[in-house]
Amino acid sequence: MEKKMKRIGVLTSGGDAPGMNAAVRAVVRTAHSYGMECIGIRRGWQGLINSDFTVLTSQSVSRILSRGGTILYTARSEDFMTEKGRQKAVATCKMLGIDGIIAIGGDGTFRGALELSRLGVPVVGVPATIDNDIGCSNYTIGFDSACNTAIECIDKLRDTMQSHERCSVVEVMGRNAGFLALYVGIAVGATAVLVPERELDVQKDLIERIQNARLAGNTHFMVVVAEGVGNAYDIAKIIKDGVGIDPRVTVLGHIQRGGSPNGRDRETATRMGYYAVKAMAEGKLNVIIGTKEGSIVDIPIEEALQMKKSLQMDRYQILETMAYASKL
Ligand code: F6P
Repeated sequence: MEKKMKRIGVLTSGGDAPGMNAAVRAVVRTAHSYGMECIGIRRGWQGLINSDFTVLTSQSVSRILSRGGTILYTARSEDFMTEKGRQKAVATCKMLGIDGIIAIGGDGTFRGALELSRLGVPVVGVPATIDNDIGCSNYTIGFDSACNTAIECIDKLRDTMQSHERCSVVEVMGRNAGFLALYVGIAVGATAVLVPERELDVQKDLIERIQNARLAGNTHFMVVVAEGVGNAYDIAKIIKDGVGIDPRVTVLGHIQRGGSPNGRDRETATRMGYYAVKAMAEGKLNVIIGTKEGSIVDIPIEEALQMKKSLQMDRYQILETMAYASKL
């Protein structure tokens, strides 16, 4: 028989994402519905090492559903990469009587979770990253809000680019993944989108695209670059040398991670947080929660970390079709 869990911990780790607070709230309230206490670990895995915690009551998570960032703070912990650090984290769990941890974050967070689970502390992961790059889940908390933030900014840029008949190079987040760039690129009608998953052919993917758009009658151009592709200023220089126009560069940066989560992120975070605690309460341990065709699934951490989600390349075709629609 599974030991009944009496007290669980919840933490947010890695890059923050809109909707993390909604997930924390859902975890706390669901835990209470199972008669479990909930301890908030501050500053991710580092907080677990340092015994940096706060008791979370249902009241204390009131009105955080709509708040951006994370009330628990977040960090990337070097110490947790070491055996010594992880042993300290285990000791904190023992000291606080924590029977399991709900870890809200991305890939790095889940790698930490796997290591902790190997030391006997059960963990359930909840995917939250604006990069949407978690293989076991179609969707990650924060992606939609971040996309909308980027879209709003680029729409504004377009106004001035159109007035001045200029080219804009906009760098969006995504060190290793182009999900955000591609989604945003389609949504803003970009001339070109550069992503880390696709080897860049400067002539074909950039210069010819702008030239073709110009031939089709366009007088301003929007190029969306995922940060993992390289420096946006270098891309602008390539355009300047290759096409003979002088682009303006905008790096959207961390603004994409902030702001109130939108409806999709609040709703998904609430469902994921609920199911994470349910899984733990029912003895389904060391899993990562995910979405598949709209439903919630749970996948063993080790397996989940092996899963890859590839960029939907057919969307490139759609992007191209839209960019040259004005030819006729
Ligand atoms: O949250 C993921 C992410 O946005 C990546 O796309 C980006 O490269 C990274 O975070 C940057 O995070 P930080 O500046 O906090 O290290």
